[in-house]
Amino acid sequence: MNGPRARTMWTSPLRVRRVPRWDRQAPTWREAKPAVIAEALKRSAARPSGNWYVVGASRELEARDRPYGRTIAGTEVVLWRTGDGELRAGPGECPHLGAPLREGRVACGTLLCRWHGLGLDGGPFVGWEPYPLHDDGVLVWVRLDRAGGETPLDRPVVPARPLPGAAVDAVYTAVGRCEPEDVVANRLDPWHGSWFHPYAFVGLRVAGTPEDGEDDAFAVDVSFKVAGRLVVPVRAEFTAPGPRTVVMHITDGEGTGSVVETHATPLTAPGAAEPRTAVVEAVVAASDRRGFALARAAAPVLRPLMRRTAGRLWRDDLAYAERRWSLRSTGRFPG
Ligand code: FES
Ligand SMILES: [Fe+2]
Repeated sequence: MNGPRARTMWTSPLRVRRVPRWDRQAPTWREAKPAVIAEALKRSAARPSGNWYVVGASRELEARDRPYGRTIAGTEVVLWRTGDGELRAGPGECPHLGAPLREGRVACGTLLCRWHGLGLDGGPFVGWEPYPLHDDGVLVWVRLDRAGGETPLDRPVVPARPLPGAAVDAVYTAVGRCEPEDVVANRLDPWHGSWFHPYAFVGLRVAGTPEDGEDDAFAVDVSFKVAGRLVVPVRAEFTAPGPRTVVMHITDGEGTGSVVETHATPLTAPGAAEPRTAVVEAVVAASDRRGFALARAAAPVLRPLMRRTAGRLWRDDLAYAERRWSLRSTGRFPG
């Protein structure tokens, strides 16, 4: 809403909506064509990642006295902050005798190996080359060229987000027994919304698919359930800008401009018999409402709530992704 009225009057984003019984809502399976999802998945897989992988939330990697260890695509990675607060990343094995560097200590920005005290300042050392790293302010990315096998890019493909000063962000992480494509496929099936998550969504209707337009997006009209019959209606658009990322933009309604980025980071090496994938979901919520300035001030309180909401949805969505993997890996996937 624009104009002087919008500035002076407060309007509630809540609407009252008849919530149909779960078993009375319109089935969506006819529209949810496996081929449409499979084609969208194929196009996303063909987009370049430049070998960049999301490691986790920038906020999670703040400590100055200890390193962080992550295994990404079967590669052990260690990260730490130097004296000036800059993040560094590199192989997680000590170049001396292979100790796990994640168990080291950071002193004055130097990572000290626990076994014999070898010090790494983040620059190259014989047998140890740092990995390119990117901190976009919400998420930290690392570039693993050997694991990715694509042409490297200088920077990861970071989706457009609301300006940091005008948004509240929260990052949720979970791990599933599946491959990244199973997580992406779940997100490219918007039709499951009201059926599979009736506690969260009401009356989901897919208003456009990549087959209808040129921007390769799924447009969805949906109401987020707040309590009882109170809902917040929005239009959202889902796109897959890279092989491991699906982005939902709120394009109309409350929170227009907000973004939910779902990143699927493989933990195991490509082709692993028992793959594990981390879902790192960044919610960057924006609003032009005046009350939102207060919301920003309350961000430390809001973040756990935002993470809890994402957590509930992902409990189900990981079950979906894991089921898809288990069928695919045994030749039983119907798609
Ligand atoms: S194994 Fe790291 S210093 Fe020896
Ligand atoms: Fe879902």
